[in-house]
Amino acid sequence: MEGTITKLFGIKYPLIQAGMVWVSGYKLASAVSNAGGLGLIGAGSMYPDVLQEHIQKCKHATDKPFGVNIPLFYPDLEKIVKIIIDEGVKIVFTSAGNPKLLTKQFQDNGIKVAHVVSSVKFALKSQEAGVDAVVAEGFEAGGHNGREETTTFTLIPMVKEQLSIPLIAAGGIATGRGMLAAMVLGADGVQIGSRFVASVESSAHQNFKNIVINTPDGGTELTLKELMPVRLIKNEFYYQVQELYKKNASPEELQFFLGRARSKRGMFEGDLKEGELEIGQVAGLIHKILPAAMIVDEIMTEFFSAKTQVSKL
Ligand SMILES: Cc1cc2nc3c(=O)[nH]c(=O)nc-3n(C[C@H](O)[C@H](O)[C@H](O)COP(=O)(O)O)c2cc1C
Repeated sequence: MEGTITKLFGIKYPLIQAGMVWVSGYKLASAVSNAGGLGLIGAGSMYPDVLQEHIQKCKHATDKPFGVNIPLFYPDLEKIVKIIIDEGVKIVFTSAGNPKLLTKQFQDNGIKVAHVVSSVKFALKSQEAGVDAVVAEGFEAGGHNGREETTTFTLIPMVKEQLSIPLIAAGGIATGRGMLAAMVLGADGVQIGSRFVASVESSAHQNFKNIVINTPDGGTELTLKELMPVRLIKNEFYYQVQELYKKNASPEELQFFLGRARSKRGMFEGDLKEGELEIGQVAGLIHKILPAAMIVDEIMTEFFSAKTQVSKL
């Protein structure tokens, strides 16, 4: 399947496994890359030496392209940038920050850069910053997100109307039909997060994987907008946050309650009560924990059959 995204990254399918804190280490990234997609190591939850180890293991586990996702609020940016360049990583997806920050430095070192945004304005800023591709992420998505609440269904065509570089859709895509829909709306490829949380190779705790496949529609909400908006499963921690809202808690009080390492506690250590559990609305469509290669295969098979069906309309 040839297109702008497959050519840009040297991959078989325009399907990218999202970089995800506590979830996407080298095992998941290499499994997706070996299956023909693009696997991303999520640097956001890794100390620099841990990231380096994951990159090295990923190079042994696959001879296919893979990349690293960096949330730009990462505290030790300089260190991980050096590691990425020194280890010869060829693809970086940046998020949650100014796209100008690292794009040129990476590109000068032969690295392709995509930047994640949640609005047309920031898609255009990313294009101006010279990125190779933009990931436009809708309100449905798991993890941290924009405050604008623009859904993938509306965001993709609006970005497409103005952007002239490759566009990757994210948020609410978990199936081949979803992938086809995003591409009909104007995306050149898709980035999928939540579906890969429920994979055998994801480093999410088994408790978290189990609750993901049992989360129905309406089981998540984008909250904590005063700090960094994040879509969470409605567990005990979420309801405690809602109680604080009822008492008109200030951002400082919310931050204090959130404390440190909540997401590690929930997603990596499996504390389903007190931990933060990041997942997208599309969890309602995820029913099984499968090997990553099977997920890629299932999505692509459904994509091609849906494409044939639709062409008969
Ligand atoms: C558990 C989890 C952790 C995430 N962590 C990150 C991250 O570290 N960096 C980032 O750019 N996006 C992160 N995201 C967002 C994803 O990269 C992706 O854009 C999003 O999951 C796509 O929407 P979907 O969940 O509906 O597939 C995370 C998402 C989830 C579900």
